[in-house]
Amino acid sequence: MWKVQLFKLNYDQREADAIRDVVESGWITMGEKTREFERDFEKFLGDDRRATALSSATASLHIALLSLGVGSGDEVIIPALTFVADINVVRAVGATPKLADCGDYNNWNVTAESIKREITNRTKAVIIVHFAGYPCDMDEIVELCQERGVYLIEDVAHAVGATYRGESCGTFGEFGCFSFFTNKNLSVGEGGMLVTGKRELERRAKLFRSHGMSALTLDRHKGRAVSYDVELSGFNYRIDDMRSALGVIQLSKLKDANRARESLVNRYIENLKDVNGLSIPFQNLENITSSYHIFVILLDRYVDREEIMLKLKEVGVQSSIHYPPFREFTAFKDIGLNPAPIAEDIAKRELTLPLYPTLSVDEVDFVCENLKNILGEIR
Ligand SMILES: Cc1ncc(COP(=O)(O)O)c(C=O)c1O
Repeated sequence: MWKVQLFKLNYDQREADAIRDVVESGWITMGEKTREFERDFEKFLGDDRRATALSSATASLHIALLSLGVGSGDEVIIPALTFVADINVVRAVGATPKLADCGDYNNWNVTAESIKREITNRTKAVIIVHFAGYPCDMDEIVELCQERGVYLIEDVAHAVGATYRGESCGTFGEFGCFSFFTNKNLSVGEGGMLVTGKRELERRAKLFRSHGMSALTLDRHKGRAVSYDVELSGFNYRIDDMRSALGVIQLSKLKDANRARESLVNRYIENLKDVNGLSIPFQNLENITSSYHIFVILLDRYVDREEIMLKLKEVGVQSSIHYPPFREFTAFKDIGLNPAPIAEDIAKRELTLPLYPTLSVDEVDFVCENLKNILGEIR
């Protein structure tokens, strides 16, 4: 249906073989492959990290808040421009979400300044997002959270492989929460990773992952345990070994895949930098390497985004929106969310263009040519 679709999996025979191997091993639920994936991920982030593989990033965010004791009466600051999972988990633990605005029209991330404006004596935690794969300004954010005694949770769903001053995103806060959903840079279908530097937090996270049980099915299978205690009320947030096997392969491909994304983004920027009707954010940021998760542009105010998306569709180009503002969703209309003017304006004008490692330069050029022509027609 699409000439150029928004996203394609970066899969080959290795992923198919990995799944077959797990199936043939006779053990498909969470087991030794999952531990291998966690170990590989720990090595990838730095030796002092402890990783817990989960069924999704949403599960990881939920467990992060519960492990830190965030609940009713607490406020949690989240970005105003992010995926709905961040607000849903805050509400799921009974806390109140407060929205931090984007820094400006170039750097859409939250900043220490925009977070500080929302801090009150009820603030217990801050969730930040490295939007589109571009790291937030971590020095100032870490300092602010330490000064004010609030927990820092990084939502790293967009930013696997991104670094700030050479350090991996996901290693700055109490917890880093990664997503391996289909359209992410590291893709297993459904999956996530919760990362922490504190052993006690890791221990609690692993309990929350599996009903609070002190021993896993694998431990009983291996004869390491005959029964179990339940130490807290947890969930079934487990990943399985088939998806962990995909994760091991995908992690080994990540560096090259992110490099391929980078050169495609540079091509987009070259093609679009002087085009009337749009601007390109996240330019000239210092001290960071991006994971180039999505390529986003900001349309000028006179441009009708829906018309552009429809016309792109007519020529076979898929585009998307990251993200509709919370306030427009039925669930959040009447919960008294604070305004975030820059994020709300960006949310109305943002457009996401196709990006994935195996996208070709010709396809990028095709998208850009068509976008230029469409913008030229409506002027
Ligand atoms: C910024 C952000 N946070 C959280 C999530 C939730 O991830 P998952 O689908 O793995 O639960 C996503 C996924 O789209 C996301 O983009």
